[in-house]
Amino acid sequence: MIPLTRQKIQNPLIPVHVGIIMDGNGRWAKKRLKPRVFGHKAGMDALQKVTIEAANQGVKVLTVYAFSTENWKRPKDEVSFIMNLPVEFFDRYVPELHKNGVKIAVIGDRSALPKATLSALERAMEVTKDNTGLVLNFALNYGGRAELVTAIHKIVREVQEGALNVNQIDEDLVGDYLETATLSKDYRDPDLIIRTSGELRLSNFLPWQSAYSELYFTDTLWPDFDEAAFREALVAFGQRKRRFGGV
Ligand code: FPP
Repeated sequence: MIPLTRQKIQNPLIPVHVGIIMDGNGRWAKKRLKPRVFGHKAGMDALQKVTIEAANQGVKVLTVYAFSTENWKRPKDEVSFIMNLPVEFFDRYVPELHKNGVKIAVIGDRSALPKATLSALERAMEVTKDNTGLVLNFALNYGGRAELVTAIHKIVREVQEGALNVNQIDEDLVGDYLETATLSKDYRDPDLIIRTSGELRLSNFLPWQSAYSELYFTDTLWPDFDEAAFREALVAFGQRKRRFGGV
């Protein structure tokens, strides 16, 4: 394959919204005989590089799976380490992202997050709220099925209260009750979902929104996924023929 140069991809088909399942941090650390958390730290560096590259290539939204509702099952130490990442992220990474016009957003159940995690995220969102560049959307304590259940509760409640009629419930309306409703309407569904580390599944990541997403799997472990790897994924996307059920 011809190596991709550091320039902008000459490809009119840049995905508007990219989702990333950042997998393989633990294995990356293990290969280096280091504790798993070492991989998460390296994963944060990878995220920073990829976010700036995505912004430069014209991607508008990058949703990254940072912590799933199932990740609480991990050893306590690892969970607290991951929960502390946003704190470090705010100090070390947000200033550069802010300079690049990146706006930070979060989806997922925030009520269960430790106070310090939440306040670091809130500060990041506050500082970057007027930025008009790429939206870096963290899926944190996020689970797609839980998101759908919450949406169903809200919809049913509104029907019971008479604020909503059953006939009004269509795909568009359901979309308005999901957490991605904070994104502008055309940007809610990922055009491309990348999963690193060779696993071939979506693991409860944006199940509604991914209905027509192009999927890209790579064996590269997340901490090794760099700008060039991201550009390769964009080029692969540009070669797909998206038909959305048509011919
Ligand atoms: C999956 O690798 C990775 C995670 C569960 C955590 C990802 C988090 C980051 C990269 C940093 C996010 C940054 C902030 C600010 C929240 P794994 O541990 O499942 O790896 P393995 O499959 O090799 O064990």
